[in-house]
Amino acid sequence: MTARRLVILGATGDLTGRYLLVALAELAAARFLPDDLAVVGVARDPWGEANFRRHARERLARHAPGLPVAVGDGLVERLSYVAGDVADPAVLAAAFGPDTSRSLAYLALPPNVFAPAIEALAAIGAATGATIVIEKPFGTDLASAKALNELLHRHFAEEAVFRMDHFLGKQTVQNILGVRFANPLFQPAWNREEVAGVDIVWDETVALEGRAGYYDRTGALRDVIQNHLLQLLCLVAMEKPDALNAKDLRDSKVELLRSVRGPTPAEVASQSTRARYTAGAIGDRRLPDYAEEQGVDPALETETFAEVTLFVDNDRWQGVPFRLRTGKALATNRREIAVRFRTPVDPLFGYEGHRPVNQLVFQMSPDRMVLDLALNGAGDPFCLEPAELELTLAPQDLSAYARLLVEALQGDPALAIRGDEAEECWRIVEPIVAEWEKGTPPLLSYPAGSAGPTGRTVA
Ligand code: BG6
Repeated sequence: MTARRLVILGATGDLTGRYLLVALAELAAARFLPDDLAVVGVARDPWGEANFRRHARERLARHAPGLPVAVGDGLVERLSYVAGDVADPAVLAAAFGPDTSRSLAYLALPPNVFAPAIEALAAIGAATGATIVIEKPFGTDLASAKALNELLHRHFAEEAVFRMDHFLGKQTVQNILGVRFANPLFQPAWNREEVAGVDIVWDETVALEGRAGYYDRTGALRDVIQNHLLQLLCLVAMEKPDALNAKDLRDSKVELLRSVRGPTPAEVASQSTRARYTAGAIGDRRLPDYAEEQGVDPALETETFAEVTLFVDNDRWQGVPFRLRTGKALATNRREIAVRFRTPVDPLFGYEGHRPVNQLVFQMSPDRMVLDLALNGAGDPFCLEPAELELTLAPQDLSAYARLLVEALQGDPALAIRGDEAEECWRIVEPIVAEWEKGTPPLLSYPAGSAGPTGRTVA
């Protein structure tokens, strides 16, 4: 049933201004927003409705510059505002009104306020009929994720909780399921006999971008690998779900996560890399040493680059390395999943240099699929040359955030993270974090604008 009221807790914060309002504007422009949806902001700023609307206009102008004026006006007119503490049930009661059914509580809040806000929501009876959306990070380790799940489950049904991972709203990410399960061509090759390895890479040119307060206590492993890249791993490696509904889809992901084996403490040194950028340039953008960025505590040794090799202990994937890597301030935006197939030595053909390999690559932003093949060369027909079959996907109609917001407004959690998934992801990553905190392996460095530290495993 579609929600009639969206209550944004943390309505004057950066997340609301940068993502949520923009996603709402996109939905309004695409006529996806239900006509009777009221949007209520709650935050501490002692503002009235007019101030909040002015603030929203300013954020939209900054973060959604191409938005038609009429659409922006229409959205702003839906907005109302309640000033106060999100942990105060009286404040929330004013925001939700007497009937909390068919409402969505969006927690655009710092994680330390999640628990008091959830308690206050429960106190006003929001557990009956309301849906709750929680942004990352969902916990900072296994114990805190478990505690947060216990608190949520004390008051809310799991189906009413949407743990957001915006990667699941990305077109290519959703497309992995279609490619894998709707094309019989790939199915016989999707296993350890045919696949030599899978590289899941999220290299970014963006650097800290003023986020030291969050990022310096988080680092690349927890910011991107623990959630986003493990979700990509799930979709690439999981078994076919019985149906594409919330239960079956998430059952398949959890089953896969349970068989993921991270490195043992003794293996962490050889199966992971951590590094931090030093001063450098990306195009004409000069970047300082990460350790000298404002708000950074160099003693924390926070990594801005992380790579780990994981294995999936099941019949399909035994022995196949899955390498997950992400980094900031790198030379290029390389965001892809590469499934590398085995290339048996075949004496029938010759080749020059490297033997051409078969590889299927899913690229994101821009969304493309590339299939690397070995074809007969133009010169000597019996000498193989590499060739690419390339497909560019039509641009996504809605951004990832907007897509997931539609799902939440409609109450379908299929693309939200289930509580047990979040816990499994921490189980996988936690032993690596523990070794890194002891200084193993040592923190490497790479100049901003380079390809990353030397000695990493993904080429
Ligand atoms: C966010 C991380 O969740 O995802 C950022 O906190 C990262 O550090 C971002 O840059 C990447 O996603 P996108 O969709 O913005 O490229």
